[in-house]
Amino acid sequence: MSFEPQKINGKFKGKDIISLDQFSPKDIDILFRLARKMKVIAANGKPSRVLDGKIVTLIFYEPSSRTFGSFGASVKQLGGQTVDILNPQVFSSVSKGETLEDTIRVFEAYCDAIVIRHPVAGTAKIAAEAAKFVPILNAGDGIGEHPTQTLLDLCTINEKHGRLNKLTGVMVGDLLNGRTVHSLLKGLSLYKNNTVYLLSPKELKLSKEDFRDYSLRGVKLIEISKQEELPKNADFWYWTRVQKERLKSLENYESLKNRFIVTKNLVNQKAGKNTIIMHPLPRVGEIDPIVDSDPRAVYLSSQVRNGMYIRMALLSLVITGK
Ligand code: NCD
Repeated sequence: MSFEPQKINGKFKGKDIISLDQFSPKDIDILFRLARKMKVIAANGKPSRVLDGKIVTLIFYEPSSRTFGSFGASVKQLGGQTVDILNPQVFSSVSKGETLEDTIRVFEAYCDAIVIRHPVAGTAKIAAEAAKFVPILNAGDGIGEHPTQTLLDLCTINEKHGRLNKLTGVMVGDLLNGRTVHSLLKGLSLYKNNTVYLLSPKELKLSKEDFRDYSLRGVKLIEISKQEELPKNADFWYWTRVQKERLKSLENYESLKNRFIVTKNLVNQKAGKNTIIMHPLPRVGEIDPIVDSDPRAVYLSSQVRNGMYIRMALLSLVITGK
């Protein structure tokens, strides 16, 4: 039987965090409750001892600034330390041909958890299968999933609206290749009566399989092709960049990028007073910086901050169990 990461089922200790499939709304509640406590720890400026004596390896085969920085800061906020392996394909034994499985088996001997980002979907699961002693946390596997991003996205939506059901959302950009989109749709499907409008160039629509999968899980998906068709007063907008590194060519990217842009005008026409404007970042032109000062724009404020609180909570739960 093929390896599947275990369901959380209220117990985080020692579990790999690979996919939103492992979570129930109850698990997400446990995480949110602890994240609120982490917010206080982060704010009070005193060193915390939650991860005292613990080491977390951050092994990133793909560029990252936010996720890498946020995981690193989370470990340090809790009094732990990190071993940072950036671009192992260039700088480590991986460049000599070491397999991923061997790399994981080696690093797990040094630490208490491993956070991995990799360009190939499914790699985090392979790492989790290889690791015998420490939990693996998926920090993004190709076009697959990005579970910690979704947990922070859900936290941000919940903070604003006080619920994760009966939401109307908008997701825009590279829906075919965006792992943050894929995980968030799985996350939203854990709750009832959510509707998501999907807007992308037709070349970057959700794959047929994904569309069917998320629909069967219970999210109502409505594909649209023009900004004019966006619903008014949605609860959230989730804009994403075209994933240049997943496309065939630079020309292909140039022709697809920035078809849909958040402008002051669009916000005035379509957003309501409670709509939040989200983006996993990095943005590369999809949101006019003039929108940044709008109080509804959370991509550079609470969304980023919640990322650290959520990762602090998750690391604490998988490493210490509380
Ligand atoms: C996202 C990613 O890496 O998938 N970034 C992030 O982790 N915040 C989104 C992206 O790169 O477009």
